[in-house]
Amino acid sequence: MAQKLGAVAGFDYKREDFSGEAMKTTQGVFLSLQRRGQYAPPPGASNILGLEASGHVAELGPGCQGHWKPGDSAMALLPGGGQAQYVTVPEGLLMPIPEGLSLSQAAAIPEAWLTAFQLLYLLGAGVNLILDCIGGSYWEKNVNCLALDGRWILYGLMGGDDISGPLLSKLLFKRGSLITSLLRSRDKMYKQTLVKTFTEQVLPHFSSEASQCLLPVLDRVYPVTEIQEAHVHMEANRNMGKIVLTLPR
Ligand SMILES: NC(=O)c1ccc[n+]([C@@H]2O[C@H](COP(=O)([O-])OP(=O)(O)OC[C@H]3O[C@@H](n4cnc5c(N)ncnc54)[C@H](OP(=O)(O)O)[C@@H]3O)[C@@H](O)[C@H]2O)c1
Repeated sequence: MAQKLGAVAGFDYKREDFSGEAMKTTQGVFLSLQRRGQYAPPPGASNILGLEASGHVAELGPGCQGHWKPGDSAMALLPGGGQAQYVTVPEGLLMPIPEGLSLSQAAAIPEAWLTAFQLLYLLGAGVNLILDCIGGSYWEKNVNCLALDGRWILYGLMGGDDISGPLLSKLLFKRGSLITSLLRSRDKMYKQTLVKTFTEQVLPHFSSEASQCLLPVLDRVYPVTEIQEAHVHMEANRNMGKIVLTLPR
């Protein structure tokens, strides 16, 4: 089974790190760009689209530490390979699904929420912080509203990467820090630490056993047979929240 999982996902991790997972997948802007060949997967990651998934653990690799057993429901952060029935996942990148959330809701959590969490928590927080996924077209507005000694964290380029104007002098006079962040290409240790901290500090707030003050935002759920419609919907920017694909078990 582990070989089958490895063959499907095509990861470069060692086999003993794996626990297997049957899954559902979500899509995001990354996937659309990759589909057009503009955003290559990091070395060792599958060419199959899909950066996050939820489902049930199908089988454990021999090196697993006993945190998971077959049948457990889980969600995972992936470097790719999510749009498949099975995927191999280092067990440190699995998270339990909070009580009261469906598999589709869970599939909408890992990439978006871990990104936001690391930007706010691991990279620093404060009133002087800009989280910027737009880039080029907003650079002037961003640097103008940055406070003295403020931090501007760039994590996407939806508004292009062209800057024409005095960005450096404006930034210098604000004594501002421009920091960039890419989650997908981070190493396994970083992602495992992120997943562990997020699991401990944020996941309990999704649970219906607690106050359930956090909920993932789902736009639409498509069966995998309608994957083309799902991509068209996303590329037309008609979604508000995550688009989730469901696959047969
Ligand atoms: N660095 C990382 O680790 C990391 C991780 C996750 C995501 N990302 C990147 O972050 C970006 C956002 O991802 P997402 O999942 O949040 O996307 P999303 O749900 O589609 O949200 C994008 C937001 O940006 C707005 N927007 C798009 N293009 C714009 C433009 N040219 N000017 C002004 N606003 C614009 C959209 O506004 P409208 O709805 O009004 O169009 C929407 O509110 C993507 O580039 C993604 O690749 C990076």
